[in-house]
Amino acid sequence: LFNAVEMAPRDPILGITEQYNADANPKKVNLGVGVYYDENGKLPLLDCVQKAEEKMMAAHAARGYLPIDGIAAYDAAVKTLVFGAESEAVKSGRAATVQALGGTGGLKLGADFLKRLNPDAKVLISDPSWENHRALFTNAGFTVEAYPYYDAAKRGINFDGMLTALNTAPAGTVVVLHACCHNPTGYDLTSAQWDQVVAAVKARKLVAFLDMAYQGFGQGIVEDGQAVQKFVASGEDFFVSTSFSKSLSLYGERVGALSVLCANKDEAARVLSQLKIVIRTNYSNPPTHGGQIAATILNTPELRAVWEKELAGMRTRIKAMRVALVDKLKAAGVKQDMGFIAQQVGMFSYSGLSKDQMVRLRNEFGVYGVDSGRICVAALNDKNIDYVAESIAKVVA
Ligand code: LMR
Repeated sequence: LFNAVEMAPRDPILGITEQYNADANPKKVNLGVGVYYDENGKLPLLDCVQKAEEKMMAAHAARGYLPIDGIAAYDAAVKTLVFGAESEAVKSGRAATVQALGGTGGLKLGADFLKRLNPDAKVLISDPSWENHRALFTNAGFTVEAYPYYDAAKRGINFDGMLTALNTAPAGTVVVLHACCHNPTGYDLTSAQWDQVVAAVKARKLVAFLDMAYQGFGQGIVEDGQAVQKFVASGEDFFVSTSFSKSLSLYGERVGALSVLCANKDEAARVLSQLKIVIRTNYSNPPTHGGQIAATILNTPELRAVWEKELAGMRTRIKAMRVALVDKLKAAGVKQDMGFIAQQVGMFSYSGLSKDQMVRLRNEFGVYGVDSGRICVAALNDKNIDYVAESIAKVVA
């Protein structure tokens, strides 16, 4: 049966962690996967999470099956976080939200549902995009193409190219957009550019699918949600997948959601019923622990305040590391202006390093980034940044 099974390549992101784990180099640094490490290089267990878990443990709750769409209090809290407490989208009941297995799970639920709705639609992702977008939508049965996004020469966004692609896409095309903290480039659209994107999606009758895995890591929770707000205001139906992997440092709990904004409450109820079939036929219903942590934090004002402070702390530290990296690269002798690293937002920097340079960084120095040149700035700290800067200086020399 398995005689002809070929060896699949390693995952372009998680495969880097596999290589990193196998490396005996004591100086090794993992700047591959998008994970926030604190100033001591430790994966943080947030205070708000610990407090929520203490509360949960004290309650000694049994572990029955969750409803197919997840914990009701979780779904409600996510809806409020994504659309805003006072949002018409929430008050009208036209948003359907389901608990999902991380942001990836939210994307896949949406992709599977879209495939049933509109099997012939094409999917457009940004060029470049998160490595898994193409694979995920391809595995859901779609033809995936890309719209221009990164402009290497100007170290920014090829916005005209992006808009032209949207304005020439056939009706029904699914457009995957990074709501904030673009992965991998770190370049986000301006508010005025978002207005134009929303107008193009509306005019061409495209289907927007926002991936918002990094809310709170750019400018702030509300600020990072501006693209969602603009789509709500447009009156269009759209999808948004969200995740607490990064913002609550709950990577391994797989806590995410898919929200679908519909025309009205009745439509939302029908969409929810279909999403439940997608969930039930894949994994039946989600796990309890992570969703309960997130629901407890979001629904307890004191814990929510602690979380917002901790999230702001992570955001601020990443920004400080960006500035420090620019300085350290200069000090290490890098001639070209690397100031763009401090302009980019979110966890990543698209460093501009070639695949060969990334491979050298890995093999010669134990500094692991993605082949595309993406490095996770959120994994830098005062102890490893000099070594990283010196290693980069050596491979770009
Ligand atoms: C990343 O881009 O590194 C993260 O989103 C983790 C992942 O699943 O790829």
